[in-house]
Amino acid sequence: MASTKERLLEKRKKRIRTLKGLILSGGKGSRLRPFTYTSAKQLVPIANKPVLFYAIEQLVECGIRDIAVVVGDTGEQIETAVGDGSAFGARVEYIQQDAPLGIAHAVKIARDYMGETPFVLYLGDNFLLGGVKTFVDRFRDNGANCQILLHPVNNPQAFGIAEFVDGRVARIVEKPASPTSNLAVIGIYMFDHHVFEAVERIKPSGRGELEITDTIQYLIDKGLDVRAEVLDRYWIDTGKMDDILEANRMVLQSLAPSNRGQVDERTRVYEPVILEKGAKVVNSVLRGPLVIGAETEIVDSYVGPFTAINHHCRLLGVRVGGSIVLEHTTIENPHWPIEHSLIGRYVTLRGGQAVGGAYSLNLGDHSQIEMPEG
Ligand code: G1P
Repeated sequence: MASTKERLLEKRKKRIRTLKGLILSGGKGSRLRPFTYTSAKQLVPIANKPVLFYAIEQLVECGIRDIAVVVGDTGEQIETAVGDGSAFGARVEYIQQDAPLGIAHAVKIARDYMGETPFVLYLGDNFLLGGVKTFVDRFRDNGANCQILLHPVNNPQAFGIAEFVDGRVARIVEKPASPTSNLAVIGIYMFDHHVFEAVERIKPSGRGELEITDTIQYLIDKGLDVRAEVLDRYWIDTGKMDDILEANRMVLQSLAPSNRGQVDERTRVYEPVILEKGAKVVNSVLRGPLVIGAETEIVDSYVGPFTAINHHCRLLGVRVGGSIVLEHTTIENPHWPIEHSLIGRYVTLRGGQAVGGAYSLNLGDHSQIEMPEG
């Protein structure tokens, strides 16, 4: 005979739900131009890892193995970067969204993939430090039809905003002109199959999209169990350069130092510093937190803090801090320090003479800047 404890455990297991994942990785990334003329915004690296990879890893951490990624124009790049998901311990499939018709539209076209299985919807440009396991575990357990996550923001006009009555979410409004709360609905949502009825019923908004906020409102109006939790951790929507640099700063602070590269005896290192395989540093100062990518060479430079230099770069005579430099970029002898900058792939930046100030740059892939001797 099973003990009471075993019976309870059995009962609990039955209630626990298997989940799938749905990651949205389309969109134009217009707020991140010129970078996004050549690259998907979800592939912008934070601490040398594409922002999208954090979402995949966080779903896998929740025990989610089956993940569909909805892609648009940049689908090929996303598929090349993520592959079949095996590198993450997941099975990743791709769903093409032919036009940017909204988040709820992306859910609609994922219906066959999901079947009756509840899922976590993760917007691929949202970044959450510390993962989603706590919230997903709760949703697995509690039987709710929908679970949303809220985070206070300074600019509620730019987000879906939750309004409360008696401690429960009563209304979700997309980008309200006169917000009544500062709690943004962040881009990580949990749904059961009821969401598919909602996305069929709602109408496109003023911006011509099927809104996820209207979808959630539909579920609330139907009297379904929609729960909201206010996040206790760092979250950011990485749509703009400033946000990416901030996320980079937050992640670098949280990483443990490691050295798989080479540092000569003239270089001074202030931890935490991560040197990836084959990174080479000569006669420089490394002021952590920072990461230097594989096969990157740093000579006569001052790097950091809060800086991520990607793989196969070459920095000579550079002072760079608070910045992200993507792979295969060369920077030589700029007269001014580089601060608060996002520099794309295969950029060449060669310096000259100038007096005072600092560069603040947002350079897309293949940019070239020559600063002649003054
Ligand atoms: C979308 C959602 C919005 C949500 C935000 C979170 O906004 O429509 O409700 O608060 O993501 O990042 P969009 O990125 O489409 O402006």
